Amino acid sequence: MYFKGESLFLRSSCQKEYKIPTPKRITSRIKLNKMYRSHTCGELRMQHVGQEITISGWVQASRDFGGMTFIDLRDRYGITQLVFDMEDDDALCTQARKLGREFVVRVKGLVRERTNKNPNRATGDIEIEVKEMDVLNASKVPPFTIEEDTDGGDDLRMKYRYLDLRRGPVQANIIFRSKLALATRSYLGGQGFIEVETPFLIKSTPEGARDFVVPSRMNGGQFYALPQSPQTFKQLLMVSGFDKYFQIVKCFRDEDLRADRQPEFTQIDCEMSFVTQEQILQTFEGLTKNLFKETIGVELPDFPRMNYDEAMRRFGSDKPDMRFGMEFVELNDVAQGKNFVVFDKAELVVGICAEGQAGMTRKQVDGLTDWVKRPQIGAKGLVYIKFNEDGSLKSSIGKFFSEDELRAWGERFGAKPGDMVFILAGETDKTRKQLNELRLELGRRLGLMKEGDFKPLWVVDFPLLEWDEDSNRFHAMHHPFTSPKKEDVERMLTGDHETMKSLRADAYDLVINGSEIGGGSIRIHDRALQARNFKLLGFTPEEAEEQFGFLMGAFEYGAPPHGGIAFGFDRLCAVMNGQASIRDFIAFPKNNQGRDMMIDAPAAVDGAQLEELQIKLDLKES
Ligand code: AMO
Repeated sequence: MYFKGESLFLRSSCQKEYKIPTPKRITSRIKLNKMYRSHTCGELRMQHVGQEITISGWVQASRDFGGMTFIDLRDRYGITQLVFDMEDDDALCTQARKLGREFVVRVKGLVRERTNKNPNRATGDIEIEVKEMDVLNASKVPPFTIEEDTDGGDDLRMKYRYLDLRRGPVQANIIFRSKLALATRSYLGGQGFIEVETPFLIKSTPEGARDFVVPSRMNGGQFYALPQSPQTFKQLLMVSGFDKYFQIVKCFRDEDLRADRQPEFTQIDCEMSFVTQEQILQTFEGLTKNLFKETIGVELPDFPRMNYDEAMRRFGSDKPDMRFGMEFVELNDVAQGKNFVVFDKAELVVGICAEGQAGMTRKQVDGLTDWVKRPQIGAKGLVYIKFNEDGSLKSSIGKFFSEDELRAWGERFGAKPGDMVFILAGETDKTRKQLNELRLELGRRLGLMKEGDFKPLWVVDFPLLEWDEDSNRFHAMHHPFTSPKKEDVERMLTGDHETMKSLRADAYDLVINGSEIGGGSIRIHDRALQARNFKLLGFTPEEAEEQFGFLMGAFEYGAPPHGGIAFGFDRLCAVMNGQASIRDFIAFPKNNQGRDMMIDAPAAVDGAQLEELQIKLDLKES
């Protein structure tokens, strides 16, 4: 028995207290052992008219017209309109009028054709003339509206995530995610991949972020790390001869959060033996095309490829959004040596052409200049050249360069009357980064990132190493297990800074619409080469042995050549649905402070637990 018969009191949204009739009275008309539903709330159509059905669900909305009450009953499958007619059953109609939002009910009734059909709803041609009703559970007034658009703020929705998950769009995202996971398993299974689970309590893998650590009770003072990825394990599975591995797996990274980053996220993680980079790209291009076709019905053409250097030169980014042009044009040869000191002392003078933007007002250009000067972007200023529709030209550097010179620059950009060129100058890497931000911002403002337009790209030939100013040393650009290109192996020994920067790796990223969806590489499978790589990264032989002895040891027992890739599964979900944030594709995500607002984690643990773990806290006052 789910009700004890006592009265339930609710506080309505208008703060009026009213009494919900005891469920006993409502249920008295219904046998409790009957089934909950013959159909879902999403499946009844004209062909069901005249049938007696039973459905169960949540009260989404109620409209009271005196003699008639209409209720929208919702479940995962859709919404069905219920009708209660005072003339048919006065008592039942009165009960219906007292139902609050999110009450759970079961109704039995007759399917009938609606007089005013709702073409926006799949069940909009019919309604249910209710004969019997059973309140299965009451609900407090929900803290925000549970409809397509909600009035709930982010924090509130996170706190009551189980209610937010009732909303159609959020539920659709989670259902999409499930469909994508099933399609991934089906495709990779069909290609001979074997799904293997790898452990979560491991030793740190250096993937660039901080580890989440877990204290070990049985090994006092020692900690496991949660995997940033199953990288070393999947390589060991290749040594074991599994040949083709995949896993849809949780990864954990303690890094600053953004719209496309969560501290725990999911990868489609894969590894293959006896493969070339080309075979890996083909296999995962195949997976991506199949997923797009199976889940959203989009046929993707073959993916273009671009090497890292070219991507940086043409777009200032290793993940360019290829939905629009606005490619970089370098101007050093024409812009320097003309006594404009900003350009003369710059390492790089580079610009982009915004089509049809010559009409920007002074105020708009000033706004954009302020935008690039914000600390997050960090440019010193923004130079413009307006190629007006009437053929005239206006530029912020008109004093330093003749009109003919600026027109010649315009030709380089392919600028037409009506276009506007923006130029930045400074240190090469920084200036490219800044211009990339400006390009993306203009792309957003000008509506060039079209929904439903998917532009995948393989970026290949990444540098092996990346110089880190803060720690004054090289880091692996992908990870330390990535193989240098064959032709660069010898040069690894020189130790010279510029040579180190120029080393290239067999590493690749899959980029879709400017989002890094996946990354991978051919791995080192030779102990000596792996040791050499650790040395370049500043590990002493002892440190390398201590942290990765198990992997280097395995390489001595017949490790096959191997390579792989991991896709960010949450990112793939978001990009396929044209959304920037991965949060709504994760059933229970963390907020930007890494907190789960619903269960209120992280939280302190009690003293006894700490004692058992042999941990003494000495927290600094914050
Ligand atoms: P990488 O570190 O490039 O490679 O990660 C692979 C992909 O995972 C996604 N991703 C994330 N998604 C959400 N939140 C995060 N915090 C987050 N961090 C990464 C991205 C990224 O492209 N072991 C290697 C793969 C390999 O070499 O096979 C790895 O993890 O989409």
